[in-house]
Amino acid sequence: MTTPAIFKADDFGSDFLWGIAIAAAQNEGAYNLNGRGLSIWDQFSLRGGKIKGNAKPDVCCDFYHRYKTDLLLVKQLGFKVFRFSIAWSRIMPNGTGLVNKAGILFYHQVIDECLALGLIPSITLYHWDLPLALQKEGGWTSHLLLKWFSKYVILCMQEYGNKVKHWIVLNEPMGFTSLGYMLGKHAPGKSGIKQFFAAIHNAAMAQAEGGRIIRAMVPDAIIGTTFSCSEVVPATNKKEDILAAKRIDILMNRLFIEPVLGMGYPSDNSILMDRLHLFTKAWKYTERMQFDFDFIGLQNYFPVTVAHNAMIPYVQAVEVKATKRKVPHTDLGWEISPTSFYHILKQFASYPNVKSIIVTENGACFKDKLQKGAIHDVQRIDYFKSYLNALLQAKKDGMPINGYFVWTLTDNFEWSEGFQAPFGLVHVDFETQQRTIKQSGYWWQQFLMNIKE
Ligand code: NOJ
Repeated sequence: MTTPAIFKADDFGSDFLWGIAIAAAQNEGAYNLNGRGLSIWDQFSLRGGKIKGNAKPDVCCDFYHRYKTDLLLVKQLGFKVFRFSIAWSRIMPNGTGLVNKAGILFYHQVIDECLALGLIPSITLYHWDLPLALQKEGGWTSHLLLKWFSKYVILCMQEYGNKVKHWIVLNEPMGFTSLGYMLGKHAPGKSGIKQFFAAIHNAAMAQAEGGRIIRAMVPDAIIGTTFSCSEVVPATNKKEDILAAKRIDILMNRLFIEPVLGMGYPSDNSILMDRLHLFTKAWKYTERMQFDFDFIGLQNYFPVTVAHNAMIPYVQAVEVKATKRKVPHTDLGWEISPTSFYHILKQFASYPNVKSIIVTENGACFKDKLQKGAIHDVQRIDYFKSYLNALLQAKKDGMPINGYFVWTLTDNFEWSEGFQAPFGLVHVDFETQQRTIKQSGYWWQQFLMNIKE
């Protein structure tokens, strides 16, 4: 891959969607205010030892009270699109049934503020914060999930469908099903293969069902759903490592997009996939997994290198960490590789019926130092420059890429990393809630300033 040395935002085209993303559970706080019900993350944070520093998402960066000034920051930095999510338990405290008027009003206010500022609101319906009441009934593993989720989506469309045209159904289904229901590292902290399979199948059906509901209720909506993705590289060119990489590629990249495209779950003769096929066949409804999305949201942070390891259950593969391989990485140990970003975009763009791709998240965690009121996060700027270079190359090579959203606006609650993993373009002092635009924020401001409308 060759990359041009200098590029401008305009090189991506005047209709390219430049955005910035946040999520309710990571930003809003106000966890028990004005009728909001608890989410699985509120409860998970009470289980000691699960989250760094025993952090709790009670206040986060207080977006609930500060959304107006945070939206001004979005505007000031020059972004066109503001991606945020609705906290299901803020508008339906029990997950189903009762509707919380104050919660409904809050999102009307955020949407109205976006529109008044000339920002395009792009709303994620589910960004990992399931209402706790639903988890008590099995959450993503329950046969009732699809019914609960459909009612929630219908409510969102009734309320906001006439104002908001950009919708994202799920955020990274592989993320919340694997970390939350298989590995126990995220809320609700469950583990076990049966829970994992049930969560996978419900998520695969919910993403398509959500799309169908939006299409029926808001015919002019632009509908997408997001997938985490990572180029998977074998540690050596030995056959067993190459096969291990193929198995992990299925899990990390193919599992959720192929059913959407009508290809069903991928097969690879591994124990894991054989069992998933048996499980979902018994559960049926596999035809409900397909939907013709207007765009696919891709979220990429790093590639993974994997080696065969017979000791690891189901996948017989293990990651060889970037820190061990001594390759460039962020402060979370995530490998920095713009070339792999290009490769994974190409992998997804190669599916014949992917019409349009938006990179709905990309960004980097570096531990910033606030010095004399400023943050010189040069590494983050370099990260963005190199990834944008790769993105532009991908676009020039004909891939249907129509937008890019930065992760994220303000430092926030980074799930099990608590408040110790800053990704923001804006630093937050969590004691005072003081915001300070980082040098990377100013870099973006300059970069976006010259776009010809
Ligand atoms: C993906 C998730 O969607 C987001 O919530 C998270 O903060 C970022 N990746 C960074 O880990």
